[in-house]
Amino acid sequence: MTTLPTRSRFPGGFVFGTATSAYQIEGHARGGAGRTHWDDFAAVPGNVIGAEDGAVACDHLSRLDADLDLLATLGVDAYRFSASWARVLPDGRGPVNTAGLDFYDRLVDGLVARGIKPALTLYHWELPSALADLGGWRNRDIAQWFGDYTDTLLDRIGDRVWSVAPINEPVCVGWLGHFTGHHAPGLRDIRATARAMHHILLSHAEAIGRMRARGQPNLGAVINLEAALPASDVAADRAAAARHDSLFNRFFLQGLTKGTYPDAALDGLGPHLPLGWQEDMNAISAPLDWVGLNYYTCKRIAAADGPWPRLAEVPGPLPKTDLDWEIYPQGLADFLVSVAQDYTGDTPLYVTENGMAAASGLHDEDRISYLARHLASVQSALANGVPVAGYFVWSLMDNYEWAFGYGKRFGLVEVDFETLARRPKASFEALAKALSR
Ligand code: FCB
Repeated sequence: MTTLPTRSRFPGGFVFGTATSAYQIEGHARGGAGRTHWDDFAAVPGNVIGAEDGAVACDHLSRLDADLDLLATLGVDAYRFSASWARVLPDGRGPVNTAGLDFYDRLVDGLVARGIKPALTLYHWELPSALADLGGWRNRDIAQWFGDYTDTLLDRIGDRVWSVAPINEPVCVGWLGHFTGHHAPGLRDIRATARAMHHILLSHAEAIGRMRARGQPNLGAVINLEAALPASDVAADRAAAARHDSLFNRFFLQGLTKGTYPDAALDGLGPHLPLGWQEDMNAISAPLDWVGLNYYTCKRIAAADGPWPRLAEVPGPLPKTDLDWEIYPQGLADFLVSVAQDYTGDTPLYVTENGMAAASGLHDEDRISYLARHLASVQSALANGVPVAGYFVWSLMDNYEWAFGYGKRFGLVEVDFETLARRPKASFEALAKALSR
């Protein structure tokens, strides 16, 4: 049986946590939240398996205390959660939903009372529908709307949160939402993609600027990386993998840390970026206190015909998770080293998400082994001198896995979506044990 490395095998002060997001667990239909573009996306046949949405999810909203007790039992140092923009401001701007602010206030108090650091994400994908009506991420004004939301939320909870990251996984919001159409708003439009990707970073910059101005400590960014492996050794496949790497992994990383976009991404997106985008890059690359990397898998990329980016994903040979994602822990070790070397230097890195979808229920030995292998990659990066400061498991509990609905389970805790009962899995016990030593 696999065990997880104990806390004592990591540097003193290393932060262990779990992560969730608002729409995936809270139960969006309750508590006065406004409609979001994920509700609209899920309502169209074919977008989400079973047309499932986040209306009830894990009903975390009414089970907050019991869920926080689970975190305390697990023994984590930090909890990465997100606030829902539409729960705070139902139309994205204008009148505040006081019940929404009250909820996040109780959440933060509950964490602090249990000795757990609140790690806040401001946006994890549920854009208020009223802002989507105005073009959402395609509209440059979103930076100001997002800044105002940031201030409204932090006026209430900013004094107690440990860290803040503006936007979870910009490439999923920008690329999957506007180019592949796999995520809300489900567009397949290159001009929309380029504008959204740039405005996401502009909004990040606006939020960071406002938070710096208010003296908010410990500000970072959370990006997701996928090892881009060529499907074969043929030059065309290697070039296609490099294109994927530039638009998926490097666009945001390079924008945030160097204030430039990779040439290979500009080849396709450049003509569609908003006029004068270069003038925003200084603000976009303002220094951060930490950078968070979400890591799950690799992609095998082959050259394809047709318009830019002329690439296709092909299946690879490694064992896969229940989402058919290849299990490739080496990719995490490689990224931690290369990101530090090429982009972030001495800035602390956190693994802000890592975990697997598994159908193994309570006896999730497969998840324990996945976590053990990825923690070994973290240890190897540490041994190579990379300043890794923490590791967060995705996710505390089974939840709404976006376009895959409730069928794909990432939790350390099982959720019965009929009764909403929670039951810790073997991986929960294994992590609790590792963290106690
Ligand atoms: C990440 C998302 C998170 C969850 C995991 C499996 O890309 O941030 O919400 O869906 O993948």
